[in-house]
Amino acid sequence: MDTYETLSSTVIIDKKNRLMSYSNSLKLIGTGRSAFVFKVKSSNKAIKIFFPNFTHIAKEEAEVYQILQGITHYPSIYDVGFNYIVIDYVEGYTLFECITHGKAITSSHIKEIDYALSLASARGLNPSDIHLRNIIIASNGEIKLIDVARFRQTKDCKQWHNLKKAYRRHYHKRYFPKKVSATILNKIAFLYKKGLIPTYRI
Ligand SMILES: Nc1ncnc2c1ncn2[C@@H]1O[C@H](COP(=O)(O)OP(=O)(O)OP(=O)(O)O)[C@@H](O)[C@H]1O
Ligand SMILES: [Mg+2]
Repeated sequence: MDTYETLSSTVIIDKKNRLMSYSNSLKLIGTGRSAFVFKVKSSNKAIKIFFPNFTHIAKEEAEVYQILQGITHYPSIYDVGFNYIVIDYVEGYTLFECITHGKAITSSHIKEIDYALSLASARGLNPSDIHLRNIIIASNGEIKLIDVARFRQTKDCKQWHNLKKAYRRHYHKRYFPKKVSATILNKIAFLYKKGLIPTYRI
């Protein structure tokens, strides 16, 4: 098998952060605001390749994963390079996908996410950027948190607090449709980010 470094060099991203090409050994599984994420087909690992302007995050995210090693709610880390990290591939659905596919998010999932975050805090971290696409309910029902690059920021992050509030006030209620289209959910996320939902200010 090619080294992770060789695999990373097959991923070509242009100046507008468009993905131009990548090796046949990789399968694209996610796109974020700073990276493309691939499953390495022959393994259970994921390689996160940062956009050219975000390569500095690779080292930071790798260091945070190192601090979290041994906590089962976070992927293990296997390699880091100047523009990539290699972590466990998590088979499952992000909370965003759970809502758009109509898969139930239960109160015990919420408790388990709280617990996972408390374990990170106990290691001196400040869990931040906790949003619907950074939390995965794995196929075996376990909770996995990904995208930990901002866990060392000092600024207070209200996102998880607000998500829990929305869960209690709306999702949990009988009237709430358990399946919402991605278009609508993205629109709600957009309004939230702009600070346009008064009781959920960031
Ligand atoms: N280890 C993994 N296993 C399975 N899917 C993953 C994994 N890592 C990332 N993904 C998928 O790829 C998407 C983007 O990954 P990630 O959140 O790490 O990128 P990002 O650019 O840092 O995101 P953000 O926009 O939140 O800053 C995730 O929302 C998820 O759907
Ligand atoms: Mg993310």
